[in-house]
Amino acid sequence: MAEELMIVGETKEDKYQSLLPQISALIEDETDLIATLANVSAALATTFKWLWTGFYIIKDQQLVLGPFQGQIACTRISHGKGVCGTAWKENRTLIVSDVEKFPGHIACSSLSKSEIVVPLRNTKGNVVGVLDVDSEFLDCFDETDSKYLEEVAHLLSRFFE
Ligand code: SME
Repeated sequence: MAEELMIVGETKEDKYQSLLPQISALIEDETDLIATLANVSAALATTFKWLWTGFYIIKDQQLVLGPFQGQIACTRISHGKGVCGTAWKENRTLIVSDVEKFPGHIACSSLSKSEIVVPLRNTKGNVVGVLDVDSEFLDCFDETDSKYLEEVAHLLSRFFE
């Protein structure tokens, strides 16, 4: 395994295209879920320097905080609550350009202005958690982010039963 990521390109699209094969290589020989999610959150966060990048995993009918990069965050989110719980309930990626306009948004940090949440699914297609990314800038996320972060989520499906 390479010890450092090599990210080339100027645009967001370029950076994702550079990063995705490296994430794939980074996790291909690993079987441990926590080790993998920890490295994937670090790879994404160091590439894009987002405010908060991490995972919540469903346990006992709640989303429970998993590996992440950023400030401390709420540890449990109920089904249908906040952006994360809504993405889980609706089984789809949510892009929120202004978190203050999302009813029920859970503010883990007052610095967070926009957010994207991508469902994680197991190999059977059931939602098992979410990938959550927050930015301190309004309108930070778009279809490019959803496309590539959904690819990241897909790479992770084999870690879930
Ligand atoms: N804002 C999220 C909560 C998680 S933190 O952002 C890390 C939400 O509304 O679900």
